[in-house]
Amino acid sequence: MEKIVKDFLENQNLKKDEFVELIRAYKDPEAVEALKTRAVELRKKYYGDQVFTRGLIEFTNYCKNDCYYCGIRKSNRNADRYRLTEEEILTCCENGYELGFRTFVLQGGEDPYYTDERMESIIRKIKKGWPDCALTLSIGEKSYDSYKRFKEAGADRYLLRHETADAVHYGQLHPETQKLSERMDCLWNLKKLGYQVGAGFMVGSPGQTDDCLAEDLVFLQKLKPQMVGIGPFIPHHDTRFAQEPAGSVELTLYLLSVIRIMLPKVLLPATTALGTMDPRGREKGLERGANVVMPNLSPVKNRKAYELYDNKICTGEEAAECRGCLSRRVESVGYHLVSDRGDAVE
Ligand code: SAM
Ligand code: FES
Repeated sequence: MEKIVKDFLENQNLKKDEFVELIRAYKDPEAVEALKTRAVELRKKYYGDQVFTRGLIEFTNYCKNDCYYCGIRKSNRNADRYRLTEEEILTCCENGYELGFRTFVLQGGEDPYYTDERMESIIRKIKKGWPDCALTLSIGEKSYDSYKRFKEAGADRYLLRHETADAVHYGQLHPETQKLSERMDCLWNLKKLGYQVGAGFMVGSPGQTDDCLAEDLVFLQKLKPQMVGIGPFIPHHDTRFAQEPAGSVELTLYLLSVIRIMLPKVLLPATTALGTMDPRGREKGLERGANVVMPNLSPVKNRKAYELYDNKICTGEEAAECRGCLSRRVESVGYHLVSDRGDAVE
């Protein structure tokens, strides 16, 4: 096995160049095995055989941003746009609660219709209706004051993938008006406000090099988020990246182990994108160190329209079917879905 892998198992504080070397070892079966073994050991130490669920409510696919990779970007005229009403969102929570969900994730494009006032009202109603549940927001870049207002209204967590920690690469994925420094400022602000924060990136996005991925790992090491979302990039037919190849499942799985070892207590989802690229992608993710799954609670009538990339799975099933299906998948690799808020251990 390569020396760098042994070094990393002993001391995770690698420099960027060393992370590049570590990433390049992903095709070495011995490296894969060694990292997998340690990653599983650590996830079991902190989380046993439990897998946490988050009920994902994709409440709007309107977006004022134009991320080049994303199927619901502003300039995609073919996207079939929808917004859920406050009542519909609350119904999703009600169904979710009955199914055993104790975390709801409100995710959407950056939709100006949902002003801070409207968001605050939704957050308060969810926290009042289901006080034993955690509420996660994933609604993009906002001002410090907006994040503060949402926190005071009861939001517990915030997911904002940094997408790539390399500024040049960030520029290849986004228009000039969107800046990496601003996205990173948002993450630091969220931390300062006491949110449990989730960062993350796509694996294999166009223009990504091993150097970019190493930069991502260095950034995660600095930020120390409580959650990290990574999944393969998957092309969407109505974007400029339609003809680009999708990211590698093997590399994504390898990075899941690396991240578990770097941040042993992290909440690490086996993502829908991973399940889209490989029918057993989520199970494999759990076997490499992931400990969270995020089934969809959105109304079935809207699911197809939240099309971030092509062939997204689970767009036709009811929430109950999704939970049942995931529960069986999780059991098949020796873990158990639990009905719990699923906070990160201290
Ligand atoms: N608007 C919010 C934001 O930007 O953080 C949340 C919604 S955004 C659609 C959620 C995540 O989807 C992004 O952070 C991105 O990593 C992922 N995503 C978008 N397009 C994708 C694609 N083509 N393949 C894989 N993941 C994608
Ligand atoms: Fe806004 Fe994708 S461009 S959610």
